[in-house]
Amino acid sequence: MRVVILDSEQEVSQRAANLICELVGSKPDAVLGLATGGTPLGTYRELVDRCQTGQISFSTTTTFNLDEYVGLDADHPQSYRSFMRQNLFEPGDFNFDRCHLPAGCSRDLSQACQSYEAEIVDAGGIDLQLLGIGTDGHIAFNEPGSSLASRTRVKALTEQTRTDNARFFDSLDQVPTLAITMGIGSILDARHIVLLAMGAGKASAVRAFVEGPITAQVPASALQLHPRVTVLLDQAAASWLVRRDYYQHVENIQRQLEQSEEPA
Ligand code: GLP
Repeated sequence: MRVVILDSEQEVSQRAANLICELVGSKPDAVLGLATGGTPLGTYRELVDRCQTGQISFSTTTTFNLDEYVGLDADHPQSYRSFMRQNLFEPGDFNFDRCHLPAGCSRDLSQACQSYEAEIVDAGGIDLQLLGIGTDGHIAFNEPGSSLASRTRVKALTEQTRTDNARFFDSLDQVPTLAITMGIGSILDARHIVLLAMGAGKASAVRAFVEGPITAQVPASALQLHPRVTVLLDQAAASWLVRRDYYQHVENIQRQLEQSEEPA
């Protein structure tokens, strides 16, 4: 795991946007795995800005979102489809036909989950998967206890997650109790995983998944098994890490190596 500790939320967002733009710049038909929540919003603003100023185009990029609430119409303002349209797909130049989210309103949810997995395979797999993390260590909607080999399926949300996400709704009662989510096994199939965490509220979950044991009780800890994970943190989210000085030392060396490899 490459743990990168940055000075501010803005730097985290810019670094994540850099990674996405480097990929899409060299591979315009790249497949991106995308996340919702407050965490990636700064990254999406950065991508939209670069797109609107002609620095990058996403017109041939394919996207797959991690998850979608069950029971909210696609046009419901709090559906993840609406979130993505509003914050990235519409202000960016994404081709909606290439933007995929699980069908949370399907009559056959199990079939919808299987189809989603098949669509990702048909697209050639995910090149870069963006992730946030829940305060209890969940990724996507893989709540604690999720199988580390799980695939896309319906999950019941914990009260903690519903409470955390209630800020996007008028009241807690309106937060759905179920979601379709890519599984931990599905996420681990991505070729590069970029997890972002900002703020003191994420410090405990970050400590647990970076430095704790691999356990289904902390779903993000499964990322320790993946060969290419970049963890971008602000100072507050990194504040509980015991080995933070070492990560910063490694990062300094890594950057020197990268600079020496750049053409003169
Ligand atoms: C939800 C999403 C996750 C996200 C998490 C954290 O549960 N399904 O993908 O990582 O919220 O959200 P936030 O970034 O708002 O803290």
